[in-house]
Amino acid sequence: MNDLHEALRDDVRMLGDSLGQTIEKHLGKKFLEKIERVRKLAKAGRHGTEKDRDNLLTELKGLSEDEMLPVARGFTQFLNLANIAEEHHRVRRHQEICDLEAADSYVQLLKRLKKEGIGVTQIQQTLAEMQVDLVLTAHPTEVNRRTLIQKYDAITDCLRGLDRGESEQHRLKELISQIWHTNEIRQVRPTPIDEAKWGFAVIENSLWEAVPTFLKRLDEQTHAILGQGLPLDCSPIRFSSWMGGDRDGNPNVTAVVTEEVLMLSRWMAADLYVRDIDVLRAELSMYNCNQELRQRVGDAPEPYRQLLGEVRDSLVCTQRWIKERLDQESEVSSVLCPMLTPDKLLEPLMLCHRSLVECGMEIIAEGPLEDIIRRVGCFGMTLVRLDIRQSSDRHAQVFEEISQFYGLGSYIHWTEEGRQAFLLKELQSKRPLIPRGWHPSPEVQEVLDTCKVVAEADPASLGSYVISMASHPSDVLSVILLLREMGISHDMRVVPLFETLDDLDSARDCVDALLSVPWYKQYTHGHQEVMIGYSDSSKDAGQLAAAWGQFKAQEALTELCQAHDVHLTLFHGRGGTVGRGGGPSHTAILAQPPGSVDRSLRVTEQGEMIRFKFGIPELAVRNLELYTGAVLAATLSPEPSPKNVWRDQMEKMAETGLQAYRSVVRHDAQFVPYFRAVTPEQELSKLPLGSRPAKRKADGGVESLRAIPWIFAWTQIRLMLPAWLGSDTALEAAVRNNELPLLHDMYAKWPFFRSYVDMLEMVLAKSDTRLTEYYESRLVSDELKVLGSSLRHRLSVAVEKVLDIKQRKELLVDNPVIQQSIDVRNPYIDPLHFLQAELLYRDRNHPDQRLEQALMVTMAGISAGMRNTG
Ligand code: PGA
Repeated sequence: MNDLHEALRDDVRMLGDSLGQTIEKHLGKKFLEKIERVRKLAKAGRHGTEKDRDNLLTELKGLSEDEMLPVARGFTQFLNLANIAEEHHRVRRHQEICDLEAADSYVQLLKRLKKEGIGVTQIQQTLAEMQVDLVLTAHPTEVNRRTLIQKYDAITDCLRGLDRGESEQHRLKELISQIWHTNEIRQVRPTPIDEAKWGFAVIENSLWEAVPTFLKRLDEQTHAILGQGLPLDCSPIRFSSWMGGDRDGNPNVTAVVTEEVLMLSRWMAADLYVRDIDVLRAELSMYNCNQELRQRVGDAPEPYRQLLGEVRDSLVCTQRWIKERLDQESEVSSVLCPMLTPDKLLEPLMLCHRSLVECGMEIIAEGPLEDIIRRVGCFGMTLVRLDIRQSSDRHAQVFEEISQFYGLGSYIHWTEEGRQAFLLKELQSKRPLIPRGWHPSPEVQEVLDTCKVVAEADPASLGSYVISMASHPSDVLSVILLLREMGISHDMRVVPLFETLDDLDSARDCVDALLSVPWYKQYTHGHQEVMIGYSDSSKDAGQLAAAWGQFKAQEALTELCQAHDVHLTLFHGRGGTVGRGGGPSHTAILAQPPGSVDRSLRVTEQGEMIRFKFGIPELAVRNLELYTGAVLAATLSPEPSPKNVWRDQMEKMAETGLQAYRSVVRHDAQFVPYFRAVTPEQELSKLPLGSRPAKRKADGGVESLRAIPWIFAWTQIRLMLPAWLGSDTALEAAVRNNELPLLHDMYAKWPFFRSYVDMLEMVLAKSDTRLTEYYESRLVSDELKVLGSSLRHRLSVAVEKVLDIKQRKELLVDNPVIQQSIDVRNPYIDPLHFLQAELLYRDRNHPDQRLEQALMVTMAGISAGMRNTG
């Protein structure tokens, strides 16, 4: 292991040196020396005296407007290169660990389940029925441009080559030079179509290869332990997408965009299959085949190639058919037989498979042919299923305009009962509701147009229709009615997203009211999906109260759906960072309430996390395995329910935490001015990260700020407030009341509480009050500094209490890898923070294009250093 750490250090040094040479070549020896000086001072500033830190600040303050950008770029790119080396190292280490059969591996899990007395058939069946749906979103948390990500990936390839003893030095230099001479900040915002294409590229570049590898391994391991593998076309994991479908607060995602994205994903799928079939055709040159295939292809000398040739033609036809639609060519298609369903593709492939096996060529059948069959099982003919998301008030607005048009009064002023009665009556009526000759507002028209696109789309290309900020049954019924009005012919999953604390608390009652309506229950076909919003609830109530609210809501929904005899799928809207419900997926799954993970689960995968988890095939395979194992374990061997004393304690702490959080965020008049002054919140909205605006309402205040920039802003100044504010007070009160032994017990035995404490610890370890204090000293008026210092004090209380619970003297002592990674990065991130504070100060006083550019680079660099944005 030590050798491996040495290897990581060597890689980082080599990449850093190469970056240094590039900078020197571009900006001269003197400039490189300046950067080196800053780096050394930063290092000394971390480990030395106040004086070293002062020297660093003096050096940075002395930089001219023109020097700030290249200095910021130097540190930012260094951090990016360090990330690549670390990522590569993780894969390298994983390979080693794999060889040693890691304790958390899938094989160990199967053995454990068997030992616990769970029957082989039950395990098999659970695997065959398992539906883990990873939903790729376009959430704007990836700071890196795609073109740079591609170069970073190429560097990873070089590092692998070097490990194999190949000579890659020249290529590495070339890539680093390309990176240095490329602007790291996007000039324009990506469009939703760009975002969707980005999602397809992740599939093309990584998941397309990873999925069959993962499934094959799963099959082999299952076979080895249980004596029976998995059906060839079984895929416990699938992918959905929000890219081009999520229009919540994003006016750029229109009905036209969604329609185009639906077509593009089909095109992309067909294209990838054409490439696969070409490879397969080249390989399957055999002449021997079974009777069935012979009958199909007549006397063709190479029967497999003959049949695959037809498959290829159909796929190419499909692409033409799609292109005609994308180009909006003639209404009547010239293409006769597009291949639109997975069965059409599977049928000939399975025929080839049977024939090869029957003719004694199993070994050939198990090659690329099985890979393609497995891909069809996972990706179908549409690659991903597109979800739609829209906010509940936009649907209500449609009914408001309709009710006004008919002179029925104002829908939004009706009682909930009144709305439900109206919607249910209309849902069961045979005549249409939408008036002829009615001219709705453009916003309402857009909602209707979207519903029409959805209604007309192939059901296999669609996932769920998610309603954000859902509270009441009418929010769900109204969407079903709109889809029906637009002519949908299947019962699409319409999913409430509960994302405030109040809505989480009343989620059970809402779903109960729905399932108690016989019409609705029939509509569900025995399956209810509910989405839990992690980040907005945390922003609303603070992390502690929100986490408890989420837990209780899921528990109550699980019980409720069992009582209604309806299968529940929980859809977790988690972000990458802790304040947005992030953290290791398998830990999170195992920490869910018992019974709530029952074979199915949906979860969002966002921004940079998509790259970290699925960007490289090896890592993707690993993460797919982790998901499968965690869902299998949580389904078959759930943790026991928490004890009542634990629940009572949690209830009490959540209440204290909630009051403490809101008394600052909502009720302290100084809070918003402090937030605006000390963080780069306002400036962040200029960073063109994604297609959607930073706020739900353009003229809204902090309450309308989306959860991502909210957390992003606090991360940049290292106060990490959303992740701990409230926990400090709650934990302190518990300790004061002599409840520490109880907290120890909860930590030791309750995965939910353990995961909450461990995540809190991780965020606290990333906080740095000295840096926050520096931002304050540069940017905040004296009057607001009082709040700042109280917050910093509270953060230190949170640290103390976490250490009390963990019975440790320092944060992260049990997790030296993360601690080391934070320590190594700090000297490189520090100059970026100091620069950022300086830039904010200068730009707020004398706005300047050069400063803004440098400011954005510091934001990107700090995100790279912290390994996520917000
Ligand atoms: P949302 O997501 O703002 O789209 O609901 C929040 C998040 O992912 O943190």
